[in-house]
Amino acid sequence: MTSAAEPLTLVLVGPMGAGKTSVGRRVARLLGIAFIDTDKRIVQTHGPIPAIFDEHGETHFRALERETVRVALEEGGVVSLGGGAVTDAGTRELLRRHPVVYLTVTPEAVAERIIGGGRPLLAGEDPLARWTEIFAQRRDLYDEVATVTFDTSRRPMQRIAEEIAAWRREQR
Ligand code: S3P
Repeated sequence: MTSAAEPLTLVLVGPMGAGKTSVGRRVARLLGIAFIDTDKRIVQTHGPIPAIFDEHGETHFRALERETVRVALEEGGVVSLGGGAVTDAGTRELLRRHPVVYLTVTPEAVAERIIGGGRPLLAGEDPLARWTEIFAQRRDLYDEVATVTFDTSRRPMQRIAEEIAAWRREQR
């Protein structure tokens, strides 16, 4: 059971460009709890993500990510995960005891959000085609971990954040 003193921890998952960071920051502010972006933590400790992929490969990145998620969930707060975190079985296991909000987005809406952004998996000629392909590979995993789903394609991030905060308060 959650006591009033414990933070209203929740996890945000979803594909690259779904708005996990911008929605997450707002939800944390609304709930008055910490915001933890696991990508940002990985960068702070291990350096830029493209360099980690280049030098050590994706498997190594997923292991760093799993450990970062574990620590973040222990601390509590709004925990925003990288788009591929759900591909790791150990990370999925860590999410089982927490409310998980799955942010979805249409390819049309994501197109302008994924320009630039230092995402090694979208590097190359046609980032939107890559995004679509990767999303198709992962969508079942997002469905598997999700407690609830919100679409971010058409409405302001602040509105979506308010709805998520209200939903989380009801989960107590
Ligand atoms: C990744 C998504 C990125 C980041 C890394 C790998 C992925 O996070 O973790 O580039 O595999 O989808 P965002 O979803 O925040 O872009």
